[in-house]
Amino acid sequence: MSLTEGHILNVWIFFSVFLRFGIFTDGQIVYSITEEVNPGTAVGNLAKDFNLNLQDIERRGFQIVSETNRRYFDLNVKTGILLVKDRIDRDEICEQNVKCSLPLEAIVNSPLNIYRFEVNVLDINDNSPIFPTAKTTLNISELAFPGEQFALPSPFDADVGSNSVKSYKLSPNEHFSLDVQSGGEPSVSAELVLQKALDREKQPVIELTLTAVDGGKPPRSGTMQIIVNVEDINDNIPVFSSSGHLSILSARCQYLPVV
Ligand SMILES: *[C@@H]1O[C@H](CO)[C@@H](O)[C@H](O)[C@H]1NC(C)=O
Repeated sequence: MSLTEGHILNVWIFFSVFLRFGIFTDGQIVYSITEEVNPGTAVGNLAKDFNLNLQDIERRGFQIVSETNRRYFDLNVKTGILLVKDRIDRDEICEQNVKCSLPLEAIVNSPLNIYRFEVNVLDINDNSPIFPTAKTTLNISELAFPGEQFALPSPFDADVGSNSVKSYKLSPNEHFSLDVQSGGEPSVSAELVLQKALDREKQPVIELTLTAVDGGKPPRSGTMQIIVNVEDINDNIPVFSSSGHLSILSARCQYLPVV
């Protein structure tokens, strides 16, 4: 095969692939709307985008046939415009999937023509982060070292992407700070970090408020109360062993300073 013949063949393949996908591929018409828009909101002009003649579609009928997604949309047969019919709650339909695309099919009768398209439903920040409980209790020993970390329950945000939990705040206090990690599931999580040793005699219970903030504009937040019970090392009863040496019954006695 000469170079020229090869070149012509490539061009031919290019055009046949282009024509296949240009004419027959489904779902190339994609509309986007935000979730929770009012019924009656126009989504797109199907007649214009599929090059349909308005007198023709009115006579032949133009309707959406997709079983599952038909309930959300109406087709105005006089204008060829796709309208929102019912409430579209992205967070219910697509849950935690960032991409929320509804495949749809419309038909025109006699002869039967099928038109496939998609509606992308975009997230709005309509949900706040929610912790599994309003209040959580941590029992932390007086012997805990600064730097020790304590796991916290994660909040859930029904929104996705930038509208999910992005940061945390801890109420001002002397003893604890937060270690915030991103990249896990949920995408941003927080642990409590002891900054300054605890002293039960001074403060037996420390009350903190943890706030989870999402990345929406404006942001929404949710809070959880953290009750830290400081456990006394003297809760461990001193006993004399048979050999007469004082020892302390504690799972953490290895942390006791040698005096
Ligand atoms: C904390 O300690 C108390 C007893 O002092 C116990 O009843 C409770 O279950 C403990 N809580 C946790 C979360 O370990």
